[in-house]
Amino acid sequence: MIVGTQWGDEAKGKITDFLAEKADRVVRYNGGANAGHTVVVNGKKYKFHLVPSGVLRGKPVYIGNGVVLDPEVLTEELETLKAEGFKPDLHISDRTHVVFKFHKILDGLQEKFKGNLRAGTTKRGIGPTYSDKAARFGIRVADLLEEKVLKWKMDVLVDLAQKLISQVYEGDVLLDKQQIIDDALHFGQTIADCVCDVSAEINDALDRGETVLFEGAQGTLLDIDHGVYPYGSSSSTVAGGACTGVGVGPTKIDKVIGVTKAYTSRVGTGPVPTELTDEIGDKIRNVGDEYGTTTGRPRRCGWLDLVPVKYSVRLNGVSQLVVTKLDVLSGINPLKICIRYRVGEKTVDTIPANLGLFELCEPVYEELEGWPENVDWRKVVSKGYDALPEQAKIYLERIEELAGVPISLVSVGPERRETIVIND
Ligand code: GDP
Ligand code: IMO
Ligand code: MG
Repeated sequence: MIVGTQWGDEAKGKITDFLAEKADRVVRYNGGANAGHTVVVNGKKYKFHLVPSGVLRGKPVYIGNGVVLDPEVLTEELETLKAEGFKPDLHISDRTHVVFKFHKILDGLQEKFKGNLRAGTTKRGIGPTYSDKAARFGIRVADLLEEKVLKWKMDVLVDLAQKLISQVYEGDVLLDKQQIIDDALHFGQTIADCVCDVSAEINDALDRGETVLFEGAQGTLLDIDHGVYPYGSSSSTVAGGACTGVGVGPTKIDKVIGVTKAYTSRVGTGPVPTELTDEIGDKIRNVGDEYGTTTGRPRRCGWLDLVPVKYSVRLNGVSQLVVTKLDVLSGINPLKICIRYRVGEKTVDTIPANLGLFELCEPVYEELEGWPENVDWRKVVSKGYDALPEQAKIYLERIEELAGVPISLVSVGPERRETIVIND
């Protein structure tokens, strides 16, 4: 199970693709097209929002019930993959909720209405779709295959959406109910052969002794319950949520892999204690190409903050860490790691639920010596962990020590092959 230990964009996509080589199946368990997962293979860049990153390995890929599915994005992604010669073996849960255009419209209107409470969403309709799911108004994939049920549910849902748009948020969009139903039925027909009981298929595969990789979207600090509420997303991003998002019991999970970027990045609003608004922050953003995969927004960058990482290790039961983008820190000296926060005389060593308190948290740093700018990463990758610059090894060992879990992989470039295996 792969989880993000920070605010998303930890390079879960790259790591999923890397690990998918040895997996039999790959399943997405949360989020929707708000995710942007980039995989680079032999110089070619692939961006995924919904299709699990394991697709490039030719493995069967699954969209679990915990995901919210945007028909337009999925259709486009599948067409692109097919045009590039891939034959995606995609399976979609009949219980997955569907995102409609009016969800995206409402997303924008709600953000405007929220003012300072807005999270700076991706405008992919995520919050409104999960709201409908929780309020039991939602449309599931299974409904797209039953015209009578779809019409009956849409009749209520579109009226509600129209009232919210026009009367609550004072938007000027008029929804065409019949068109929405026709489009939904058409999409249902195009995916009908992929629709299945994902929980049953994944459990059967596990019972046969197969290896299943669970690909997380977002990160722990964006989790609906444990994230920096209300500045996070609307799905359960943690390992426990992955079990409900696919329909497997926790006893079936034997590894929880926490992906951690060697520094911090955040796209969207809310406090980021280690954010750097100086030239070091700019350097990290430029070298790390920290611009959103989904929205193109510049990501806020800063020093590695171990408080969220430790928090994630606890919440997810992380058994091993994968540290990514280590190469980006080359040439920055000294490096800083935040080990706890301080508020006045008080020490804070976890993520507080109290937003006012979190906003006041000042990072307490430990300084470490950086490594030179001009590392020959190709050589390092071919020789393995021991060939890393000494200072980089000390940096990684300090992360292990503070997080309390071993590092199993280190990523030193976007390419699939730019990965160092420490232990399996
Ligand atoms: P995800 O959402 O967690 O899958 O992460 P994103 O794909 O949104 O962001 C990670 C970005 O970093 C992508 O552009 C990757 O191609 C790139 N990347 C991944 N691993 C590395 C690495 O080790 N070094 C560098 N320089 N870039 C990386
Ligand atoms: P991946 O899978 C980084 C952020 C948004 C916003 C908040 C809520 O690529 O790591 P939403 O559209 O979900 O309602 O937005 O969450 N956010 C992400 N930030 N990576 C992501 O996904 C994100 N998905 C959502 O910027 O602050
Ligand atoms: Mg991303």
